[in-house]
Amino acid sequence: MNYKQTKQWIVDKNIDSDKQTEMIQEAALWIKQNKLIAFPTETVYGLGANALSYEAVAQIFAAKGRPSDNPLIVHIGDSSQLDKLVKSIPLNANKLMAAFWPGALTLILEAKEAIAENVTAGLSTVGVRMPSHPVALKLLQECGLPVAAPSANMSGRPSPTTAAHVIADLDGKIDGIVDGGSTGIGLESTVLDVSKPTPMLYRPGGVSVEEIEAVIGKIDIDPALETADSAPKSPGMKYTHYAPNAEVILVDSDDSIHHLVAEAKKEGRKVAVFATTGTADYKADIVRRGESLEHTAHILYGVLRDFDEQGADIIYVKTVPTEGVGRAIMNRLEKAAGGKRV
Ligand code: TXA
Ligand code: MG
Repeated sequence: MNYKQTKQWIVDKNIDSDKQTEMIQEAALWIKQNKLIAFPTETVYGLGANALSYEAVAQIFAAKGRPSDNPLIVHIGDSSQLDKLVKSIPLNANKLMAAFWPGALTLILEAKEAIAENVTAGLSTVGVRMPSHPVALKLLQECGLPVAAPSANMSGRPSPTTAAHVIADLDGKIDGIVDGGSTGIGLESTVLDVSKPTPMLYRPGGVSVEEIEAVIGKIDIDPALETADSAPKSPGMKYTHYAPNAEVILVDSDDSIHHLVAEAKKEGRKVAVFATTGTADYKADIVRRGESLEHTAHILYGVLRDFDEQGADIIYVKTVPTEGVGRAIMNRLEKAAGGKRV
């Protein structure tokens, strides 16, 4: 792949000057010219391209090293764009859009043909979301185009929650990045299939199951999220995502962490602990702490990247309860750990 000079536009989250508006307009123009632009959302950074152009979208797969059978989410800045993208909007979808858009909820709907076929990886459905981050919304509104955007990381790396993470993975491979500081939630959007009579959760994320069920009643959960033996409905969920280089092991109790840390240190390994809860005094080489479920979600991917950079050999992570955003945290941790849990 040819080397690209990656341009950076640094803007404030609230876009508080004409100069910053002009920078976002330039980035929007570049997307219209079928270039690849990374931008912040309230979940993680996205890598955007014109969703109507096969060639533009093909560059996303090439830059990320993404398997071609993994469909992309289409981002819109205005609900009126939806009619051109999907065949119909069921009542449940309307209720959820009213409750959670703009926000961290991706809705899977029956796709129209306008979208480039590589966006949907040949499926008859498309995932659509309207992000709430002011920079993302402004960029999408300035484009006036549907923008296909996966997380802006190399495939298999933790999703990027700062512009520095994007640069670390994709510098020289993409045309530009709008740097709007660190993202909010820190984990990806919830993916919900609303094309079925009873909607089904494909990926837990920023909007919790409890919040969704409060609006439309009981939903189904893709069985693959709860047991390892069925194939996930969302192609992306089958890959060993979110993996740092170090070995990751999930641990339920502090007693076990103390014991495991001592053992690993005896073996001369560099040990890291991500203490998602509590204040226990771990004797590890590196310790990072989450102060609440929300804070844990916000820092999770950055912590995994930091541990790698500091050369950790093994990472012990304290598990969290699967309520609220805890369901998404545990889903990502289970993937990072490849199922290893003590
Ligand atoms: O928060 C997010 O969703 C971020 C930001 C940038 O918006 N994007 C993101 O995209 O996480 P990505 O590509 O990393 O994850 C998209 C997930 C994948 O698991 C993919 O398989 C699934 O959504 N997906 C997309 N379209 C789908 C479809 N039509 N049917 C089933 N799953 C779909
Ligand atoms: Mg991703």
